[in-house]
Amino acid sequence: MTEVILEARDLVKHYPIKTGILRRTTGHVKAVDGVSFELHRGETLGIVGESGCGKSTLGRLIMRLEEPTSGSVVFEGQEMQKASTGDMRTLRRDIQIVFQDPYTSLNPRMTVGDIIGEPFEIHPDVVPKGGRRARVQELLDLVGLNPEHINRYPHQFSGGQRQRIGIARGIALNPKVLVCDEPVSALDVSVQAQVVNLMEKLQNELGLAYIFIAHDLSVVRHISDRVGVMYLGKMAELGTEDEVYQLPTHPYTQALLSAVPVPDPTLRGKRQQIVLVGDVPSPANPPSGCRFHTRCWKAQEVCKVEEPQLVDRPDGEGQHRSACHFAEPRPIVDTVDVSHLEPDERFATPEVVDPEARAEREMSASEESRIAAGDGSEAVELPREHGSTPGDETRLVGNDEGQGGEEGHRRQP
Ligand SMILES: Nc1ncnc2c1ncn2[C@@H]1O[C@H](COP(=O)(O)OP(=O)(O)O)[C@@H](O)[C@H]1O
Ligand code: SF4
Ligand SMILES: [Mg+2]
Repeated sequence: MTEVILEARDLVKHYPIKTGILRRTTGHVKAVDGVSFELHRGETLGIVGESGCGKSTLGRLIMRLEEPTSGSVVFEGQEMQKASTGDMRTLRRDIQIVFQDPYTSLNPRMTVGDIIGEPFEIHPDVVPKGGRRARVQELLDLVGLNPEHINRYPHQFSGGQRQRIGIARGIALNPKVLVCDEPVSALDVSVQAQVVNLMEKLQNELGLAYIFIAHDLSVVRHISDRVGVMYLGKMAELGTEDEVYQLPTHPYTQALLSAVPVPDPTLRGKRQQIVLVGDVPSPANPPSGCRFHTRCWKAQEVCKVEEPQLVDRPDGEGQHRSACHFAEPRPIVDTVDVSHLEPDERFATPEVVDPEARAEREMSASEESRIAAGDGSEAVELPREHGSTPGDETRLVGNDEGQGGEEGHRRQP
């Protein structure tokens, strides 16, 4: 693997909660609570996790748009928190950000040329004044926009085109790292693919490293070399794309992945979906020990008292980092070979073998589909592993259709 360009060392960001007329600090939102990782030159590190788990805060800390409560960011061997003002100017040029919302992140009163060229006002040494218009046109061309549209305003562009403008602005100063905070989440699926393809093209041409933040696991898988899974301000699992998606060992990752729709119809209904019940606990008062223990079906006493560290743990084929005392691989999609079956049979749910039960199932399918996972397959009680407590609400649902989006895994059967 290439050299490390950026490293997050035990980053913590706590926001004070102020209440009353005196605005006394009564607690802290632990948005990011001890996150460490490294980013290699030219690679894409995906960061996934539910809304509110601290992804954007992490992005802002890396950009140094905010100071960490503790911990540090090291860029090319230099600790950003200790950098002089002069060094910081260079660092700011080398790390740029692309935001999620192409509708609000661009100033509607500025022309596209002024928006993309704005970074040159702050860093005039990058491109001399006379050459800026040409450089902006070059950037427009690079991101697939018409250079002649340099005098147009943001509202004259579509959502996908505006995100291209945001990317052009992000790469204007030739950064080495681009932090992309949900860069395609606000776009239509078809447009998402185009923007992701553009980002891959730019990475190849410019040798950029990306920190790609998103809640959509499929998009992250597509673009990432390595992936970190966040839960409540902490990193639950970190590994290569293959390790995290094929050999996940953390129960939270397994639950998230089990909710991703399977594109192959022959596999639908052949996968057990882990439905996590209950909301994510408040980051102001995170659970003790392992933060996931209130929703984890494998939780034991030790999980409540001892925080599992993010260290290498066996995954069945090798090892990668996972913050679980009982880390073990679990097949996420049971890839039964159905090629020898008739097409009709391929789509049958394997557990329904009794014809009577099947007829009943088909009758109530449409009704159940509104309540359950998508085609009326039944929710089953999760096998109790490691002696989890009675009353555990987590269920497995033997189906995966229609479970896209970050809310999917939280739906009750
Ligand atoms: N400036 C802030 N002040 C107080 N709390 C904040 C601030 N920014 C974020 N938070 C809180 O920190 C937590 C993590 O937020 P965020 O990083 O935006 O998560 P994500 O991007 O994963 O959705 C949330 O509970 C959020 O409400
Ligand atoms: S088994 Fe324990 S340590 Fe592992 S994720 Fe569940 S609660 Fe956390
Ligand atoms: Mg966010």
